[in-house]
Amino acid sequence: MSWGRHEVLEKSPMLMLIGILIVVSIGGLIEIAPLFWLSSTVEKVQGMRPYSPLELVGRNIYVREGCYLCHSQMIRSLRDEVERYGHYSLAAESMYDHPFQWGSKRTGPDLARVGGKYSDEWHREHMINPRAVVPESVMPGYPFLADTALDYDDIQEQLKTNVAVGVPYTEEMIESAKADLEAQAGKESGDVEALLARYPKAQTGPFDGNPDEISELDALIAYLQMLGTLVDFASFDEAGPNLR
Ligand code: HEC
Repeated sequence: MSWGRHEVLEKSPMLMLIGILIVVSIGGLIEIAPLFWLSSTVEKVQGMRPYSPLELVGRNIYVREGCYLCHSQMIRSLRDEVERYGHYSLAAESMYDHPFQWGSKRTGPDLARVGGKYSDEWHREHMINPRAVVPESVMPGYPFLADTALDYDDIQEQLKTNVAVGVPYTEEMIESAKADLEAQAGKESGDVEALLARYPKAQTGPFDGNPDEISELDALIAYLQMLGTLVDFASFDEAGPNLR
């Protein structure tokens, strides 16, 4: 196009506006249109499963206490992050999170892969009084969690609510939610095998050190101990994760 003809556009704000709208909508269509034909934008990854009932309630406590105000759960694909925290976060790792806990504030470290990093005892002491294990810590203590009995009467409703937003809990999982929660928290009568069949890699308690009562601390530590442990990154090859 010669300069002369472009001048027409530049001297008429209305024409310029229409021109801009046309160009921007081409870009928009190219980005948005494929989403109408893709069934999911999240690649499935081996090992991901919905939260066990105890982990789910622990996650609710994490949200209730506002842990996300100081902790992110999103390892970015930058070298310093990967060297510190491990493999960068995959979209699939938060596919069952409603709402997700990526966060944007890191007063404390990222927690996306904190599972298995410390013992249950460490978490117990740390949650009750962070300075007991990390003297320079500025994290507040949450000593009341250990003394508060876990309220899980509505656990079946919690699972059903998650089903409503797309989490694939089965009828059987909903049916046995209470039994699974108690088995994972370390109740002696609990059927741990059945729990593991439904929720592979689930860690079992008693996380708070007390097998007789299920406290909020039990649930929170169960949740922390599973973070980032479901996907087996050792089985990844250079091309990326093992997609199903
Ligand atoms: C005011 C900010 C703040 C809040 C709120 C907070 N934390 Fe922390 N957290 C920190 C800081 C700072 C550290 C690093 C020092 C330490 O280990 O105590 C930390 C460390 C941790 C660690 C150890 C991480 C690691 O890799 O060493 C865990 C686990 C943790 N916090 C869990 C929680 C949970 C669960 C909650 C909510 C109940 C919470 N935090 C709330 C600031 C916070």
